[in-house]
Amino acid sequence: MEVSSRVRKISPSLTLALDSKAKAMAQKGEDVVNFTSGEPDFDTPEHIRAAAMGSLDANFTRYTPSSGIPELKLAICEKLKKDNSLEYSPEQINVSCGAKHACINVILATVDPGDEVIIPAPYWVSYPEMVKIAGADPIIVQTQAENGYKITPKEFEEAMTPKTKMIIINTPSNPTGSVYSKEELEALAHVALEEDILILSDEIYEKLIYDDLTHYSIASFSKEIYNLTFTVNGFSKTYAMTGWRLGYSASPPWAAKQIISLQSHMTSNATSFAQKGALAAYKGPQDCVESMVEEYKKRREYIIKTLSSIAKISYAKPQGAFYVYINVARTGMSSTDFAQRLLEEEKVAVVPGIAFGDDQSIRLSYATNMERIKTGLERFRRFIERL
Ligand SMILES: Cc1ncc(COP(=O)(O)O)c(C=O)c1O
Repeated sequence: MEVSSRVRKISPSLTLALDSKAKAMAQKGEDVVNFTSGEPDFDTPEHIRAAAMGSLDANFTRYTPSSGIPELKLAICEKLKKDNSLEYSPEQINVSCGAKHACINVILATVDPGDEVIIPAPYWVSYPEMVKIAGADPIIVQTQAENGYKITPKEFEEAMTPKTKMIIINTPSNPTGSVYSKEELEALAHVALEEDILILSDEIYEKLIYDDLTHYSIASFSKEIYNLTFTVNGFSKTYAMTGWRLGYSASPPWAAKQIISLQSHMTSNATSFAQKGALAAYKGPQDCVESMVEEYKKRREYIIKTLSSIAKISYAKPQGAFYVYINVARTGMSSTDFAQRLLEEEKVAVVPGIAFGDDQSIRLSYATNMERIKTGLERFRRFIERL
């Protein structure tokens, strides 16, 4: 007996694998500094937890409409209008079990076997696997550090074939922390429009942005680009709600119903009381987000300052998310060897870039407290200096 060809093609998440190894070492009592985490180290804000607990106490524990409770869908529409200049009606919103779920819903609902999906590398680990699950082919485009690891219109055009159905854009980016400017997004939108290429715009790190930069939603540029774009967002990163599993897609009218229908046969609704928590997240005070961003800013400043004094490495200054992407090619090691040795010799866990389609770099997450960051970076420096 064999498992399906669909799952034979996919690889396990490399980021989760390293995180598990680091956690196993820590459980054995080893003093590991874990920089692999893709989740905020903060607790979910109190008013969000209270809203979910209150709804549990009120027995809000039954199935909800598959695409989400009406009041949350409305709150999402209001948020998209206020923050992103995007006009959606609740029928276009599908609340899912995380942004990850929202991404695969969109891909499964729009991409056919044999289609090609352009994915700029370094990419978030799950995109190529999701495309493969849909039976389509991921077309990986290596972006350049000198372009801030952002795909250029020329690279986009060159990767296009008659089979191209979609491009995935992630801004701010995991793993590089790059943020696309309005002009850069407009130029990509222009190319997508010429050939009617769909856009999956993953905006999960939207609020984690620094240096007074502004996040732009590509769907907001024109009616035509809105009609080609699926905007994905969620609660995990902004509100430290990773375990709640809540995200959503906002789709053009021609595809919204099918996305909802697809989810209705797979998971049905996202957890009922978690949706009440998400509602409180959007409707409640936002100072909790601001204070988390302030803390990320401090950590980022510290890391950048420290890294700039370490030889043999280079990095792109991250403008968003909570990652620093470090090129280690000058050490002569592959990203995997580097990460492996760093963990074994200095008990510092990072994610090798190979997980993101680039074997020259490693990703360090600063979703960990300042004290651990300081210890981890001292060990990191010692490791590099010893090489
Ligand atoms: C770029 C990107 N998109 C989506 C997700 C998934 O987020 P969620 O926890 O909402 O499923 C992640 C999580 O790491 C991510 O980094």
